[in-house]
Amino acid sequence: MSARATAVAHSNIALIKYWGKADTRLALPATSSVSLTLDAYLTETTVEWGADQDSITLDGGRIGGVAADRVRRFLDLVRDLSGRRDGATVVSRNTVPTAAGLASSASGFAALAAASTAAAGLEPTPRELSILARKGSGSASRSVFGGLAVWYAGTDDASSYAEPLPDPGLDLAMVVAVVNAGTKEISSRDAMLLTAETSPYYRAWVDASRGDFDDMLAAVAAGDFTAIGELAESNAMRMHASMLGATPPISYWEPDSVRCLRRVRELRSAGVECYATMDAGPNVKILCRRPDLDVIRDAVGSLGVAGVTTSLPGPGVRVTRDAS
Ligand code: PMV
Repeated sequence: MSARATAVAHSNIALIKYWGKADTRLALPATSSVSLTLDAYLTETTVEWGADQDSITLDGGRIGGVAADRVRRFLDLVRDLSGRRDGATVVSRNTVPTAAGLASSASGFAALAAASTAAAGLEPTPRELSILARKGSGSASRSVFGGLAVWYAGTDDASSYAEPLPDPGLDLAMVVAVVNAGTKEISSRDAMLLTAETSPYYRAWVDASRGDFDDMLAAVAAGDFTAIGELAESNAMRMHASMLGATPPISYWEPDSVRCLRRVRELRSAGVECYATMDAGPNVKILCRRPDLDVIRDAVGSLGVAGVTTSLPGPGVRVTRDAS
């Protein structure tokens, strides 16, 4: 007996970052984080159980190696939950450039969690889905939800989950400057581990980010865009500063990343309120408000970067075709 389901999940960009684990086995983060789910980038994944063994196709090509092992280990969790013993055929399509620091693992594992459980006949609550997605990729816990989401670090498996934050009514939007959509040299998973193990600034990052998180929740509750933006930008810079202190040093930045960061400062000086954030890649994401999207897109586009995408907040994960 086979069972099939398709799910769509959108990527999210952290405004308060997750960078480092407190417990690797349980995938518990050292700090809580806050993110904005984007409508521009999504993953659609179909899972069909009933195969002899797992097979994984991404954007038309069969994947193997470490990436496939990671998906298989995730499917093992769903086998444990459902009692299934068979293999799954996974077919996934990304509109996010894979592994380029554009949160492809967030949308990828959120979609996989929803499709694989639905196809197995499970009906997880959104919180249960968030906990499961977290074990595929930490940031995926947040892509279960639309708009602004908070991921509580928690102290055990059950208390480390994401949930949506009330809409602050700020017309939030994001411009993504794609500096380089190629695969990054070091995965976020390895880079955060190296930072935690070797950077003397890691402890300072954790302490600072805990404060930033509390301040961000207060800023969102107050609907204070300036405070949200300033916190997002400084939190991202602090995360990257902790990486520079690692041995060997980690830097995802490219010359065009720096040019984009400067352009954001120039825009602010010119009265266009916007703030930059960066993840495990050279691309720069610019938090702004909807009426300013076009002027920021043009200002960044004129730098000649590889691409510029504008995005509004996106929805949470959904199963688009029911299990049959
Ligand atoms: O869960 P991962 O492996 O996608 O790690 C996410 C790391 C950052 O994107 C840099 C920060 C974040 O909170 O999304």
